[in-house]
Amino acid sequence: MTKEEILGRINRVRFWYHRIDLGNGICTAGSSGINRFDRYCFSEELRGKSVLDIGAWDGLESFKAEQFGATRVVATDVWQDAPVNKKYWEGIRNGDEGFRCVREILNSSVEQQNIDVFQISETKTGQFDVVFFLGVLYHLQHPLQALQIISRVCTEMLVLETAIIAPGELLAEESEQVPVMQLRGTSGWFPNRLCVEEMLKLADFKKFDYSSFKRVPTTARDAQFGVISRDTIARDYDLTEEAGMKLAAGTPVAVLNTELGDMEIAHPQARRLRIQWGRPDRQAWVDKNVVKISGKRPEALDKSKQTKTTRLILKAYK
Ligand SMILES: C[S@@+](CC[C@H](N)C(=O)[O-])C[C@H]1O[C@@H](n2cnc3c(N)ncnc32)[C@H](O)[C@@H]1O
Repeated sequence: MTKEEILGRINRVRFWYHRIDLGNGICTAGSSGINRFDRYCFSEELRGKSVLDIGAWDGLESFKAEQFGATRVVATDVWQDAPVNKKYWEGIRNGDEGFRCVREILNSSVEQQNIDVFQISETKTGQFDVVFFLGVLYHLQHPLQALQIISRVCTEMLVLETAIIAPGELLAEESEQVPVMQLRGTSGWFPNRLCVEEMLKLADFKKFDYSSFKRVPTTARDAQFGVISRDTIARDYDLTEEAGMKLAAGTPVAVLNTELGDMEIAHPQARRLRIQWGRPDRQAWVDKNVVKISGKRPEALDKSKQTKTTRLILKAYK
C-alpha cells in the first residue's frame, strides 16, 4: 500500500483507541500511548509462544506480540454485541474496523475471534502459552470467574493490567492487608492489589512478578473543571434512565474525559463528558452542553478528593 492509501484507509476508521505505529512515520490516531507496550518489559519471553489477547480492541498488544516473535496470536474482543454496556461501546466505535484496518496494513497473521471472555474455553479458543488480559478485568461484573476461565486456557503466563484501588484511596492504608473490591456503578469492580493476588490464587496461578508495576504512574485524570449549567441527570456507562443521578445546576465538576477517550472536550465528535463530583468514586456521563467549563478548579472541589487512576501490572505464572 502507498502512504496515501494507508492514510486514506486509517482516516476512514470512525474511532481509534490505540496509537499504533504503522511505519513510514504513520500512526493511528488513538489516545492510548504508542510506547505503552514497553512497560510489560518483554525481551524474549514471547518468542515462539502462542498468545491470546483478550479485549484487544484495535490490537496494539496483539500486533506487538507478533513483532516480539510469538508464533501464533489470537486477538479476541466483544467488537460486535458487547454483552454489557452495549450502548456505550456502540456509541464510540464501529465494531472491529480499527483492528481489521491495522491487520491489513501490517499484513499481519494475527487471528481474530469475536468472543466474550466468559465464553472462552479450550474447545472454542484452544490453549495458549501466554494470555494478555489488559485493561479488561475492572470492566467486568464477575472478575474472579473471568480469571478462572482464563486459567483453563493459559498454560504458562498471564499478563494482567487493571485499574485498582490504591492504598489509602478509599479506605485507610491498612486496607492493603485485606482483599477488597469496590463496585463502580455498572462499569465493574476495582480490586485492591491483595484482592487481585487472592483471586489469581483461586484461579490456580502460583507465582507473581510485579517488576513492571513500578513503571505505571498514577495519573490524575481531571485536567479541566466546570460547573453544571442546568439541572440534569448524570448516567453511568449503560446510559439508562434508571441508573441516572440528579445533578443540580451549579454543581462543581471535574471533567475526566469524553466518550472518545482522553481527547479534548472541544472535539466536534465528543457528545458526552465523563465527570466527577463530590467524591473520587462519584463519576458518570453527562451531555457535553450541560457543563460550563471554567478552566479553574472550583473551590468546592477539594483537591484531596481528586480522582486518580492507579493501575497494576503483574505477570502471573501457573
Ligand atoms: C480499556 S479497553 C483495553 C484494550 C486493550 N486490551 C488495552 O489494554 O489497550 C477494554 C476492552 O475490553 C473489551 N471488553 C469489555 N468487556 C469484555 C468482555 N466481557 N469480553 C471480552 N472483551 C471485553 C472492550 O470491548 C474493550 O475493547
